[in-house]
Amino acid sequence: MSKIRILSEQLTNKIAAGEVVQRPASLIKELVENSIDAGSTEITVVIKNGGKSLCYVIDNGEGMSKDDLLLAFERYATSKISTVDDLLDIRTLGFRGEALASISAVSIVNAISTLQGADTGYELRIEGGRFRDVKPHSPEPGTSISVRNLFYNVPARRKFLKSREVEFRNIVEIMRKFAMIHPDIRFTFIHNEKEIFRLRAENAKDRIEHLFSSEYGKNLLPIENKSEILSVSGFIGNLNLVRARRGEQYFYVNNRFVTDRYMNHAIVSGYSGLLSRGEFPFYCIHLSIPPEMIDVNVHPTKMEVKFRNQGMVYQFLKNSVEESIKEITRVIPNLGKFSPSSYYSPPPIPKIQGKVDTQEAISPTSDFQERGKKKDTSKQAEIPMHFSHKVDQRKWTDRAERFRDVYKPTEDDTFQVDVPLYQIHNKYIISQIKSGLVIIDQHVAHERVLYEEAIESMQNENWKAQQLLFPQILELSVTDFSTLLEIFPFLEKIGFRMKEFGKNTIAIEAVPAGMKWGNEGTIIKEILDSYQDFGTKETSIQSKVAASFSCKAAIKSGDSLTEEEMRNLVDRLFATKNPYFCPHGRPIIINLTIEELDKRFERT
Ligand SMILES: Nc1ncnc2c1ncn2[C@@H]1O[C@H](COP(=O)(O)OP(=O)(O)OP(=O)(O)O)[C@@H](O)[C@H]1O
Ligand SMILES: [Mg+2]
Repeated sequence: MSKIRILSEQLTNKIAAGEVVQRPASLIKELVENSIDAGSTEITVVIKNGGKSLCYVIDNGEGMSKDDLLLAFERYATSKISTVDDLLDIRTLGFRGEALASISAVSIVNAISTLQGADTGYELRIEGGRFRDVKPHSPEPGTSISVRNLFYNVPARRKFLKSREVEFRNIVEIMRKFAMIHPDIRFTFIHNEKEIFRLRAENAKDRIEHLFSSEYGKNLLPIENKSEILSVSGFIGNLNLVRARRGEQYFYVNNRFVTDRYMNHAIVSGYSGLLSRGEFPFYCIHLSIPPEMIDVNVHPTKMEVKFRNQGMVYQFLKNSVEESIKEITRVIPNLGKFSPSSYYSPPPIPKIQGKVDTQEAISPTSDFQERGKKKDTSKQAEIPMHFSHKVDQRKWTDRAERFRDVYKPTEDDTFQVDVPLYQIHNKYIISQIKSGLVIIDQHVAHERVLYEEAIESMQNENWKAQQLLFPQILELSVTDFSTLLEIFPFLEKIGFRMKEFGKNTIAIEAVPAGMKWGNEGTIIKEILDSYQDFGTKETSIQSKVAASFSCKAAIKSGDSLTEEEMRNLVDRLFATKNPYFCPHGRPIIINLTIEELDKRFERT
């Protein structure tokens, strides 16, 4: 007797279902895809208990005849392809004829459909893959499919479902992905009788705003590009929409949401170094490509595609983002020509407070660090995208350099040394310039200053160290300790003095003069963390150390400053090579021109 058996269709369907339907969200994905393929202009999704007890999708698409309704739930039954060649020319979201068969194998399905123009509809009931019933139904445009009790007959899988909240969140994400790329379709989404969203047909930008918030609308840059073969459209977020977590990256190929690390890399690298490691921009990018240039049949839930010419697509995407991102640098202010005396003069005499000996300290740093340790909110600095900005002709360094050509400074862009400086919300410094006013972000400004001073001290004259009264003992992990050994010489040049003090333990004996640290140990740890975070992005150890140091040592948003401290900071800022961007690429200064103000007050 043979040991090998051919499995029953019912069993194979159940096995196949394991691939297609993993959770309620994948079920919703399949049903909504079908509705979109059917040409619907309105899709309603109703779920209960995170989709675990009910997923119900109603559309107004082309519908199905009685025969098709019956066939639709058979395995490999599809209206979307018929020959092998068709696989190379897929223009629909579905093509395998598997989804409905898989879904109905592991749940209780009720489907009602009316073929467009027909005067009768049909209702079909399937339980665990077994047809129960088909009967006429009053004609209602489109198709509605309800799926109850997912995995009721596969307890092992039901156990793996997550909590209602988690499953719900997954569905929200799926719905968002569809709604974003189809702003012309009206979507309604209801969970446990509560309306989550109801979206009318609208333009793509409004759709993003409605799916996220109005803040998004304000911070989007359009992306639009075409080559002979490819075209791209959509929106990318400016730096205000950068998050510390992945998750708001939406990349579509021929209207299909796909995950693709390589193309994601192309898009992110189009930000031209404005992002650091661990920073994730928002984008919603749609790539149109001839269907024969991709293979969509490479992933069980159709979440990936294979490009026949990856390199070309990569370059195209990167260039397109670069073009669009140029807009970001328009926020660079027209501070223009500073008078040489206030500007190119040697750095001002350090203003040191507290117990530090002025003779000892060669670095101009005040006691900024001691003040309030509030959370740094400078990252949320508003960037007024609609202002037109120019920039001075001084030599630009690093990331902003490439954009220099875009700006033409005017004679009016002189920073006036003697005008008062104001601090608002312990966060921004405001001052007048000839052409209007400037707003400086105190944290990033100080960060830029310290960054350049740190680099300088590593290359030329070392920063003076300030002895601590009591050395601080700091125990480190093995990784941290070996990182510390790697960057130790650079930290020394900035002014740290440390000694090994037992296994993976150090004693911090001195810190850069002029800084009041409070907890030196924490700062060292933070520097190590952020150094490791930079990965290979920063070009040299030196700049990585400098960037980590300056970020941690800079005054925080929330620290209150005296006018003298502000002036000291501003002077030092304008003595840096690049007063416009912090080492992480965030803007430091924005300006508001008189013309802009006049326009806003409707004076013109
Ligand atoms: N909402 C709908 N409106 C009209 N026809 C539908 C709808 N849902 C399914 N169908 C029909 O049923 C067929 C089977 O659907 P199913 O989702 O199982 O396969 P598919 O979409 O062809 O391929 P895939 O398995 O990749 O999704 C479809 O090809 C389509 O003809
Ligand atoms: Mg389908």
